[in-house]
Amino acid sequence: MRQKPVLESLKASFCGKYFFFRMKRKVEEVRTALDNAVNLYEDVRSIVSSHASSFFVLDYMNTLFTEDLRDALFQLTVEAACELPSLRLSSDFRPAITDFLIRLRNVLNSDVIVPSKEEFFAECGVTTSRIDYACVACPDKKKHEVIASCDLVEGLTRKCGLRRVTDLGSGKGHLGSALATYCGLDVVCIECRAFLSESSARLHERHVKRLEKKTKIEAKGSGTFRIEADLINSSSDLERLNPDGEEFAIIGLHACGNLAVDAAQLYTRTKSCSAMFIVGCCYNMLVEEFDASDPYTVEERIAGRFRFPVSSFLREKSFGLSRNAKMLGLYAPDRINASSLERISNGPLDSSESPFFRAVLDFMMLESGVEKARGATVGSAFKKAKGDFVTYAEISWKNLNLDPSKFDEGRAKELYDQCSLLRKEFHIFQQFRTALSPLIEFIILVDRLLALLEEGFENSWLVRAFDPVISPRCYALVSHK
Ligand SMILES: C[S@@+](CC[C@H](N)C(=O)[O-])C[C@H]1O[C@@H](n2cnc3c(N)ncnc32)[C@H](O)[C@@H]1O
Repeated sequence: MRQKPVLESLKASFCGKYFFFRMKRKVEEVRTALDNAVNLYEDVRSIVSSHASSFFVLDYMNTLFTEDLRDALFQLTVEAACELPSLRLSSDFRPAITDFLIRLRNVLNSDVIVPSKEEFFAECGVTTSRIDYACVACPDKKKHEVIASCDLVEGLTRKCGLRRVTDLGSGKGHLGSALATYCGLDVVCIECRAFLSESSARLHERHVKRLEKKTKIEAKGSGTFRIEADLINSSSDLERLNPDGEEFAIIGLHACGNLAVDAAQLYTRTKSCSAMFIVGCCYNMLVEEFDASDPYTVEERIAGRFRFPVSSFLREKSFGLSRNAKMLGLYAPDRINASSLERISNGPLDSSESPFFRAVLDFMMLESGVEKARGATVGSAFKKAKGDFVTYAEISWKNLNLDPSKFDEGRAKELYDQCSLLRKEFHIFQQFRTALSPLIEFIILVDRLLALLEEGFENSWLVRAFDPVISPRCYALVSHK
């Protein structure tokens, strides 16, 4: 056996050590960021796990907050409370609020998120050719997402020398079709709703025709576009799509709930998959391992199909969110902030009118000794009631199948008037909860990033790929091997 020259083995050992230290540092940085987020989360766990409908029943004003924070929050005006989700500091805020917002901002502003696709390009040496995408039959929001995603996927595949991508949960195929048409990539779309195959194929035809007409567009020659109906999970065999073993990238735009995590696991396990671009959504559908509020059955536990948390760091802590927290993680505070001036001029309490009705109704149900059956909902009662609480309560009572003899119209009116005295406090509570929404999204996404790093996938990033006002689920988990 040939002996390695001394210099060569020294170099190899130096590179190995350098890689090891750089990797270790990155893992530690991300772990620290997640640890800070989780520590803050523990301080507000009861608030994020609460639900507006229990505001009166569980006397949240007196049970959820520390004394300092409660006093500071509930002296705010309605307008000042509207500022809370922006996380901006205001002279109206007492130190208990300011200190809390500073801590929250510090957690969220950690360096673990690459703030824009341009910074990502610079950081990992990716270039794109900024094509003039002419997305067809595409709402503005989707167009924004497709254009930004095409830039990122094109850059990533170019860096890794890939021609093939597999789009998981492709929906109508907007992204896959644009990648094939404008970036010359060979795309396979996988979508579990088989009926979407036809509309994807039609959409792609229109893309190709549009491109043929617009000869001025500097396209790289169309790639192929194929659609398969299949339900993906973390053990799906993606190698079968590449019988010749050519390397490919996994992509997913708004891969909902568990799919985003399954896609990341497929990336790590599939040998010929060498890059990944996944934007998740619908965190409420994530199956959690340590959610005390929603325990899983023995069968689910045995199946072990949990998608949160995925990092060893959070799993060792048995860290759980809760159904309500995951729902809160789906709010869009940037959008809310962008429209807050408009909301104030329209009457700032309007937006919380429906949850307020629901909270009063829950109080009324408790007082009347009635309980709704599991799964029963108030349906469209709020819309039908047109702002009148008594009508709302009456319709809801029917929809929830509650004992009609226990419905008292007079008492409904009395309770509404009584609870309305705390209308402002209810609004402040809602605004403060909204401010906590990014913390939950941060924990879910950084947990996914950390899991990749823990497994040794050093080239992994969380990138703010979209404008959060246009598209609130704007973070992409990007990685290459
Ligand atoms: C939010 S939509 C996004 C669609 C598309 N990527 C887009 O951005 O327009 C998520 C899609 O993923 C599909 N999906 C969800 N879970 C899936 C799974 N396990 N396997 C395949 N498709 C799935 C859904 O049917 C849905 O069409």
